[in-house]
Amino acid sequence: MLHTISYVSTSKGLSDFQINELLYISKLKNDELNITGILMHSDQNFFQIIEGEKPIILNLYRKIEEDLRHFNLIKIFDRPIHSPSFKNFQNSYTTIRGEKDYAELQQFLEQEKAHNRKSFKNISYLTNKFLGLP
Ligand SMILES: Cc1cc2nc3c(=O)[nH]c(=O)nc-3n(C[C@H](O)[C@H](O)[C@H](O)COP(=O)(O)O)c2cc1C
Repeated sequence: MLHTISYVSTSKGLSDFQINELLYISKLKNDELNITGILMHSDQNFFQIIEGEKPIILNLYRKIEEDLRHFNLIKIFDRPIHSPSFKNFQNSYTTIRGEKDYAELQQFLEQEKAHNRKSFKNISYLTNKFLGLP
């Protein structure tokens, strides 16, 4: 059973080094556990989507929730999925790095638009803000 969770949160005055370290280590760990998704940081906020096997995702979210490097977590969605929308774990610090990452995010947004209109509105608003788009 595949599952996905998305949330936004506020980071606790982390340095550039600490944020890059967090993004880098999350990617390494997630690759090992076949967790896919996206983690973005911009302007003291995190935005994350994680997807993978349900027990693994619930377990990771529990750890993330208790992580003292951020607070004020607000869940955007928490639901089962048939297949993952992201092939790898992408992460980004204020900008999405390559065009491929951006294409994958766009594809995800298209799917959301068709199937989950409410979350589409929230997520497209958030991702545009995170990417500094109008
Ligand atoms: C905003 C944020 C996002 C995180 N995302 C992940 C993640 O995707 N994968 C991960 O393994 N840890 C992530 N972490 C770190 C976890 O909270 C936790 O420190 C880590 O899973 C500890 O793993 P361990 O107990 O297995 O050593 C994140 C932390 C924060 C603050």
